[in-house]
Amino acid sequence: MTPASPGATLADPNEPPRRPLLVTDDAGLLDDLLRVAAAADVAVDVAPDAHLARRAWGRAPLILVGADQAQACLRAELPRRDGVVLVGIDLDDAEVWERAMRIGADRVIFLPDAEVWLVDALADATDPVGHRSIVIAVAGGRGGAGATSLAVAMAISGRRRNLRTVLIDADPLGGGIDLALGAEEASGLRWGDLSSTRGRVPPRALSEALPQVDGVSLLSWDRCDAPPVEPEAMSALLSSVRRGSDLVVVDLPRGPDEAARIAMSQSTVALVVVPAEVRATAAALRVAALIVPHCADVRAVVRQPGPATLAATTVADAVGLPLAGVIRPEPGLSESLERGEPPGTRRRGPLARFCARFLAELTMSADGVAA
Ligand SMILES: Nc1ncnc2c1ncn2[C@@H]1O[C@H](COP(=O)(O)OP(=O)(O)OP(=O)(O)O)[C@@H](O)[C@H]1O
Ligand SMILES: [Mg+2]
Repeated sequence: MTPASPGATLADPNEPPRRPLLVTDDAGLLDDLLRVAAAADVAVDVAPDAHLARRAWGRAPLILVGADQAQACLRAELPRRDGVVLVGIDLDDAEVWERAMRIGADRVIFLPDAEVWLVDALADATDPVGHRSIVIAVAGGRGGAGATSLAVAMAISGRRRNLRTVLIDADPLGGGIDLALGAEEASGLRWGDLSSTRGRVPPRALSEALPQVDGVSLLSWDRCDAPPVEPEAMSALLSSVRRGSDLVVVDLPRGPDEAARIAMSQSTVALVVVPAEVRATAAALRVAALIVPHCADVRAVVRQPGPATLAATTVADAVGLPLAGVIRPEPGLSESLERGEPPGTRRRGPLARFCARFLAELTMSADGVAA
């Protein structure tokens, strides 16, 4: 058997198929599908007819049946399964929908209209590991609560655990999270360069393009006048970094925009930092209400001590969130931030200790085993 093109092979009956399967004998359609697969950086198997498709049919993660082979698949009585997509060739072919129904296809697509969808579908089918990367979003219950400091400390802690870590600044008014890491001079792309990104972004290319600080990749705002992040851009970039990393930490704005809501909805857990003060608690209640509809796991992190003696559990109860933990004052944090020394650098400091424990718990529950 000869490869149909680089990254494409004829379906080998002796190999367990882990690649998406293209079933078509139409040279033009095959060219188009292989081009999309190359854009998705995904290797595929090709079966020119229903007979050759049979061996891979049950196990391929995604099957794209060309309209030219739909009838043949039907005649071959290939079993119904999820993840079958019929790729139409002729927009005026009214029967394509009926054939799709009869072979049990999930959907009918036409190129080039469905190209962006198909790039994502091919990547999703072959790269399920990316979906397991942990995403931790951090928001302040009030202004200056300590959210950015916690987000940076969490990213540093992740790196310490050897997790491939990306820190995303989703707060356009925060002045740039690169400053909190002393990385304002670090070369690489920032939101100003990426705010209109669309479609699939290859993880390695993105990782190489972002500034790196002590092994943490940064997607930061800078001090330039830049347009807001479009929701599609947040979605595309988050999807890319989730594929290419183990841990993503997002510094959320308190008043979330559409891009921040996308980040919340993709978060494994969201933390709301609440200083143990009456007014901060009241403000955090409102902040939490903006996050809860988008994220299934939202928890409070209480900064102690407050001016009175509000217990952390009382604060968390008042905000209506489970308590993730308490953070005591980080000695010299304000001064460190002024010098561009990232919060959480001191291993034995309260921030680093909280983050280490939290990440240990989270990775343990994500893996089912101690990480
Ligand atoms: N864990 C901490 N220990 C001691 N001081 C802290 C801690 N966290 C934050 N601070 C103090 O609060 C200030 C604001 O912190 P930070 O910028 O992290 O808050 P924020 O919630 O992100 O604020 P913003 O509302 O501007 O986004 C810091 O400069 C520091 O002085
Ligand atoms: Mg902040």
